[in-house]
This record gives sequence, structure tokens and C-alpha cells, in this order.
Amino acid sequence: MISKLFVVICILFPQVLTDSNRYSFPEEFLFGVATAAYQIEGAFDEDGKTYSIWDYNLHKNPDWVKDRANGDVACDSYHKWKEDIQLVKALGANFYRMSIAWTRILPSGHAGSQINEKAVLHYNNIINELISEGLIPMITIYHWDLPQSLQEIGGWMNPDIIDHYVFYAQTVFNLFGDRVKHWITFNEPYHICEEGYSGVSMAPFFNASGIGGYLCSHNVLLSHGKIYRLYEKLYKPSQNGKISITMDTTWYEAKDQSSDSDKEAAQRKLQFNYGWYMHPLVKGNYPAVMIERIDKFSEQEGFPKSRLPKFTESEIEMIRGSYDFLGLNHYSTSLAEPSQNFNQPSQNYDTGVQDSGDPEWEVSKTSPWLKDVPWGLRKLLVWIKEEYRNPPLFIFENGWSSTSGLMDEDRVRYINGYLSELLKAIHEDGCNVLGYTHWSLLDNFEWLSGYSARFGLVEVDFNSRERTRTPRLSYRVYQNIIKSRIVN
Ligand SMILES: *[C@@H]1O[C@H](CO)[C@@H](O)[C@H](O)[C@H]1NC(C)=O
Repeated sequence: MISKLFVVICILFPQVLTDSNRYSFPEEFLFGVATAAYQIEGAFDEDGKTYSIWDYNLHKNPDWVKDRANGDVACDSYHKWKEDIQLVKALGANFYRMSIAWTRILPSGHAGSQINEKAVLHYNNIINELISEGLIPMITIYHWDLPQSLQEIGGWMNPDIIDHYVFYAQTVFNLFGDRVKHWITFNEPYHICEEGYSGVSMAPFFNASGIGGYLCSHNVLLSHGKIYRLYEKLYKPSQNGKISITMDTTWYEAKDQSSDSDKEAAQRKLQFNYGWYMHPLVKGNYPAVMIERIDKFSEQEGFPKSRLPKFTESEIEMIRGSYDFLGLNHYSTSLAEPSQNFNQPSQNYDTGVQDSGDPEWEVSKTSPWLKDVPWGLRKLLVWIKEEYRNPPLFIFENGWSSTSGLMDEDRVRYINGYLSELLKAIHEDGCNVLGYTHWSLLDNFEWLSGYSARFGLVEVDFNSRERTRTPRLSYRVYQNIIKSRIVN
């Protein structure tokens, strides 16, 4: 019986009727947690591993990172992986998203080089343990840790990288593909390329503004397309796995909802960040707005050709449709308005958008770029559905950065908010989302923020030799969501 009080509440607060609490996650929906090799493994020079671009740069320039931290030891997961897997298991998760270190498997880096058997044994142990615990391994082949030896020849800006990457990826298919059925070729090409080669916030800190990011992205997309087609032909018939790639984007909202130029700026920013990769993958070639603007500005700047490389017709076809499902890493929302107030050449100038935050939004105390705006996820998912024909999608990262301490109410609020909006996107908007991955299982090495920005459901004591792990309140909350399949 519906009480009169409930009727009155519904009239006064109609949102009660559409509250996501009445929705549950579909039976086949998968939950997981994610980590990445350099951020958790440590053991930076153990068992034959060589230097990646992160090892190399942070040893050379320790002052670039907060508290002069680096990933030499990190969570020591190279030795504590069994404990990590037990934490994933006890959480009730369906899968564990992790990455393999190229510099462990192929210490010399290049195509045709020797496989390191100790590294093979290490990752075999982890994969076998995950499977015997009933967990699905989802493996990121490249999560930012390029062998320094390949950076010496230009890294992702040199087209030769494609064959080196393809050899490395084939090596991991040969070694682990009998058991690993979910592969992610690249984590966040925007960060690999724009931050790593056009700027100085990610390795290799190349700083070729307006140029490096486009060259790098071109070779990342070609590497992805090439390995997808090879897997399709040589491995899929026997291994029967699936291949994905995961891109990150913020949701961009028009700063002034009634301004057409702000709305256009928000759309342009989405195309320059996410469409940069999604358009070639789903529709073929770069988005028209990128081609037009970068070609035009390059000419004005006196470049003999566009700073945005061109694909051939056969490359466009190779990349188009080169996925079995797609990945989205999403953390936050920004406001967008048009602006050309940037240095030239730069991706910012090419995009022509200034972003900002709304003072009403809660900002992470340890990651100033991260704002708690749950509705941004729903709007983004609806935009992806409409823009890219509702592709099968995994959320491969989403999370909050807190300070240390076990009572992480801010992360709990973030998780409840974002997962409620995800439920609405699935049930009310029909978005084809197949799974959700929380970043991260553990506090870990958060790049230039070192160990100050804590993203873990599980706290790690970086002052203890044992790197003691203690589940936070948010671990219990996420555990409960996975079990009940609803958000409270
Ligand atoms: C990066 O390049 C810009 C010019 O585009 C320069 O102003 C800046 O100092 C460079 N940063 C570093 C760390 O080299």
C-alpha cells in the first residue's frame, strides 16, 4: 500500500520517483578494479627489468615529482601480488584490470629481442592465480612505460615504433593469450601523447607543443589498428579473445547554457580530446573539425604541411572498426567557453577552448583537477551513445583522490554519485555499458603527484617496509554495491 505520506513526498520531491535506487545493475554487468605496472610493482631493476621512460626521467630529475617520489618500490606488488589478488577476490569483483611492463618482458625493448623468462614466470603466476580465484584478467598491454631504449629513437613520434609495439603485443598474445581473453592495447592515448610529447607533465616530457602529440597519436592509432588486424587473423580463431583500447575524457559542459558559442566550444573540446581517437576507431579518420582547424593554423604558422598527419585510405580502413568493445576512463567535468588565448602552436590553440570549474563543485584535496560532478558521467555516456552509435563500452577507470586515512567519506560520496548516474544511463538512456572499473584497488604512485594523491579503495602505508594494505570505508561500500547490485 502506498502511504499518503509517500504520495506527498513524491509531489514535493518528484526526483524520488526517478531515483536510481530502484535500478539495479544487469546480471551480466561486470565490476572490477584497476592498477598499472609502474604505479604499483616497484622492483624497478629486478629480474632483468630495464628502464622505462618513467624510471629514466625520474632518476634523472627527481625534483619533478612531489616529495621526490618515484616508482622504484611503489606498493611492492611485484612481491605482494598474492595479497593484492586476495583483496580483489574479497571485494567480490569479477575482474582485475592490470598492465604488463614491456621492460620486463622484453628488456631490450625492440622487435626481435630476447624474451625474459623470469618476467614470463611472474606474469604467469599472477594470471594463473587470478583465474584459479575465479577472477577475469583484463590486461593493458601499454600503460605508459615505454622502454627508454625506444625513446632514444624518438619513441611514439617515430613510425618505427609501430613494428616494435606489434612485436611486443604479439609476444604477450603468444605467452598469455591462451588464458587472457580481454586485452586493452593502450591506456589513454591523450595522456601518452599530448601530455608526454607536447607537454611536460608525463614521460618522456618531450615538450614539442602542437606537434609531438599529433605525431605520437598517429603512431598509437596505427599500432592499435595493426595489432587488432593481426589478432583478428592469427589469434582470434584459436584464442577467441576480445580487444579494446581505452580513452580518457572529461565531460565538457557549456559555461553559459544559453550561449551557442559556449555549446560549440564544449563540443569542439570533446572532439579534440576524445573524438581524436574515437572518430578514427568508429567512423574513420580524424574528426573534420580537427582536420580543418589544424590544417588552417599550420598554414598560417608557416609550416610546409599540416601538423596533423594524414592517414591513407587503407590506414583509415584498418583502424575503422578495430575493436570488440571500447574503453572509457572518466573522472571529472569542466566548463567550456571559446578562447584563442594560448601559445602557438599548441593543441590548446588548435582547440580554441578555455576550461574552468564551477565553484559549487567539490574539488579533491589532493588532485585539484578532479571535481565531483556525477551528472557529467551520464551526459558523457549519452553523448557517446549518440555520437558513436551506442558502442559496447567498459568504464575502465573512474575514481577519487583523497588524503590518507580510512574513513574516506569523500570517495564514498563520489562512488555512490557516479554509480547512481551510471544506473540511470543504463536504464533510462539505454547506454550500452557492460562493466565498471574503479581506479584504483590500492593507493599507488600517482605520477608527478607521487604518493600524495591517494586513489585506493585500500590504503597503503608507504612508510612501512611491508607496504601494509588496509581496506578503507569505500572498499566496504563498493563491496556492498557489487554484492547487492544496487546503490544505496
Ligand atoms: C616547454 O616549452 C615551452 C615553450 O613551448 C617553454 O616555455 C617551457 O619552458 C618548456 N618547458 C620545459 C620544462 O622545458
